[in-house]
Amino acid sequence: MQKRYTPINPKFPHFLHGGDYNPDQWRATPKIWEEDIRLMKLAKCNVMSVGIFSWTALEAEEGKFDFSWLDNIMDKLVENGIYVLLATPSGARPAYLSAKYPEVLRVGPNRVRILHGQRHNHCFTSPIYRKKCKVINRKLAERYKNHPALLAWHVSNEYNGACHCHLCQEAFRNWLKNKYNSLDALNQAWWTAFWSHIYTDWSQIESPAPHGESCTHGLALDWKRFVTYQTIDFFKDESAPLREITPDIPITTNFMGTYRGLNYWKFAKEVDMVSWDSYPHWHHEKEDWKMASDVAFVHDINRCLKGGKPFMLMESTPSMTNWQPVAKLKRPGMHLLSSLQAVAHGSDTVQYFQWRKSRGGREKFHGAVVDHCGHENTRIFHDVTQVGEMLSHLDPVIGTTVEPDVAIVFDWENCWAIEEASGPRHQGKNYEETCKKHYQEFWTRGIPVDVIGMEANFSRYKLLIAPMLYMVRPGVAEKIEEFVESGGVFIATYWSGIVDENDLCFLGGFPGPLKRVLGIWSEEIDALTDTDVNYIAFKNGNALGLSSEYKTGVLCDLIHVETAEVLAEYKLDFYAGRPALTLNHFGKGQAYYIASRNEQRFLSDFYENLTHNLRIKRVLDTKLPRGVTAQMRTDGEKEFIFILNFTPQEKKINLGKVLFKDLLTKDGVGGNITLKPYGLKIVERNTVSR
Ligand code: GLA
Ligand code: ZN
Repeated sequence: MQKRYTPINPKFPHFLHGGDYNPDQWRATPKIWEEDIRLMKLAKCNVMSVGIFSWTALEAEEGKFDFSWLDNIMDKLVENGIYVLLATPSGARPAYLSAKYPEVLRVGPNRVRILHGQRHNHCFTSPIYRKKCKVINRKLAERYKNHPALLAWHVSNEYNGACHCHLCQEAFRNWLKNKYNSLDALNQAWWTAFWSHIYTDWSQIESPAPHGESCTHGLALDWKRFVTYQTIDFFKDESAPLREITPDIPITTNFMGTYRGLNYWKFAKEVDMVSWDSYPHWHHEKEDWKMASDVAFVHDINRCLKGGKPFMLMESTPSMTNWQPVAKLKRPGMHLLSSLQAVAHGSDTVQYFQWRKSRGGREKFHGAVVDHCGHENTRIFHDVTQVGEMLSHLDPVIGTTVEPDVAIVFDWENCWAIEEASGPRHQGKNYEETCKKHYQEFWTRGIPVDVIGMEANFSRYKLLIAPMLYMVRPGVAEKIEEFVESGGVFIATYWSGIVDENDLCFLGGFPGPLKRVLGIWSEEIDALTDTDVNYIAFKNGNALGLSSEYKTGVLCDLIHVETAEVLAEYKLDFYAGRPALTLNHFGKGQAYYIASRNEQRFLSDFYENLTHNLRIKRVLDTKLPRGVTAQMRTDGEKEFIFILNFTPQEKKINLGKVLFKDLLTKDGVGGNITLKPYGLKIVERNTVSR
């Protein structure tokens, strides 16, 4: 059965290619605009994000609007076949607004109100700021509702941070009242009897502060939940005129990967399509292929944020990223490769920050399609054109998705709780990095993965991995039991099942509600120093396709088996001989508990063996060379396979006997192929031919 998502806007069912465009910075030089359009067409760009920081250019004085320059550029763009993602300007405000209405300025956790400057720093609660945003957004929507260039709304920019002003404190207290109804319930949930922190009046509650409350975990968690709630509320508020006046124009706002400040599992529900800004540190200390695996993990989150629906790569740099400590240029091949990597994981766009370098300001040295030299005879311009050219051949891929057998849980609230907790180590708990280490073993084998929140539906997967599931919210353990009972395989690790949704420890033994499905209980956890080493030893490692021992450290859980069997034991220290890896048969399925943080070689051998036994689909039926992955998008009938070489060396891959079609040349491909350094190949096959 064919299954495709509708394109971002059906009026242009093609890959979008373009970037953030700031024509307002060049209003005094109309020649530059003419040049921009010529160059955009040359670079095969078909979309521009316009107006992201244009508030002052549109409303130079309060209430005095001038849209003439925007009219002009929107007309020019669409006459030349270039569409517009029209932005709302709330990301940075005019100085006159800050001067006249100081309440729009954010107050920091230290309770000091900022001065005007920078960007992304308004109060999300301020009624005046909300009103001013709605006024200008309404004007934009009314003016451009029928404009042929308008493809989608780019609402604000990278919402982030929080405000601690008295309006926000009030909103926080109201949110809490609504959640808990009574102070008793709040005090109980936050365990405020600890250090005599019991609240006797709602007015005593304040957001966390470095010089105030910072040890009530329930408060910290609820504050983060509130910030997500309030940011979404602001987003919905400023989007209301757009929804009302242009109900058919889709809306997005650009997310920032695994940014800690917002729970994107919640935010994603409110946007029509997910978009995100990707700025990996290529060619740094971490090998490129490992960085690529980490980026792939985030692309997969973005696809899963809307249950598999294609996302947008809203920003990426065509060359260097000036805010990174070392602004390294992308090596030849990397631009095409990293752009198509996003597509391989489900993006239907490749977009950049930025189209043209500004002459002044913080980002004048940030990578751009058009450099200060102003012409097309540059390496970067050539690289960008190559991406545009390739995307123009990929129409059949639009709207297709990825259908993995494997899912890894990455959950924001869990992450917040782990990072907030004091112990068992202050440094090195590394929740996100741990998830990525498990993920890497699938990336290297060309096994597609969904990265999901704990609220997701698990039933479609064969293998569910939830590293460090410290927080287990109500209903989640039940869902995991059901998943395993009906034949699924579940992997849990040390530091799981410790707290509930309020960050209160489970009583009666860890891993709390996961005890039954895992068939173990954990009595203590040992935190090791960075130089401490232990080993886990297998009595019967070979039978499992594993070595007889692996290095372990950092966190070692001291568990007892109840119904589980012991597969490996610790080798050293006072817990030598105690279980380190267990397997529990539960219903038709199985649940493994990895009790300690083992070296990567363990994860590699463990998942190699497990994925074979479970017959987990690999994109290609071949062993991929180190640093090469294969990812796949499908509509249920056709499979589009992206073979990506993230190494600076040439790599050979054996495609076996199956005949594939090269999506670009339309030639048949099979047998041995060679990928250039940082090279790639996109091939197609029919699902039935596997
Ligand atoms: C972010 C912002 C852009 C720009 C880029 C630079 O993603 O959204 O406005 O500052 O970073 O990398
Ligand atoms: Zn505020």
